[in-house]
Amino acid sequence: MADRLLDAMARSASRLYGGEAVSELEHALQCAELARAAGADEELQLACLLHDVGRYAVDPSLVFDTGEPSRAGPHARGHHEVGAELLAPWVPERVAWCVRAHADAKRYLCATEPDYFARLSAASRHTLRLQGGVMTAVEVARLAVHPWLPDALALRRWDDGAKVVGKATRPLSAWAPLIRRCFDR
Ligand SMILES: [Fe+2]
Repeated sequence: MADRLLDAMARSASRLYGGEAVSELEHALQCAELARAAGADEELQLACLLHDVGRYAVDPSLVFDTGEPSRAGPHARGHHEVGAELLAPWVPERVAWCVRAHADAKRYLCATEPDYFARLSAASRHTLRLQGGVMTAVEVARLAVHPWLPDALALRRWDDGAKVVGKATRPLSAWAPLIRRCFDR
């Protein structure tokens, strides 16, 4: 599983991340690096590294919100859900939860931070609509009490910041030991 995942990540270097100007791999590495630099624990770093596996490591017909809607099959779901399900058997529950929650975290921040929506990129606003739009007050109240919400919100902010063209990061191989510890079981 570790080899398959690392291979999918390496191949994602040739795909652009949604409507952004960085590749899927650059985006994942930048997101994980921001978490590491901020002192996030290893689980949260892993969630950041893998939060978009549902965009590039699964059959595209299973996903409807990756910018290729024509490829989505009749039972397609959001990339965050498909990605979380792919990871769930292998990673700590908190990691899979944060991956699943990273779309809801955006919907939550749009509802609770007045200028958050204004800072979103055009591509991110487009997927916000596909993912259910700004949260209602009832949805906000339900999510607000979740103990891992701060982690999901932190991931979301690093996600938003991980779109810098040409930014230097450590290579994928630097993360391989962490991935192997989880997925080679
Ligand atoms: Fe992302």
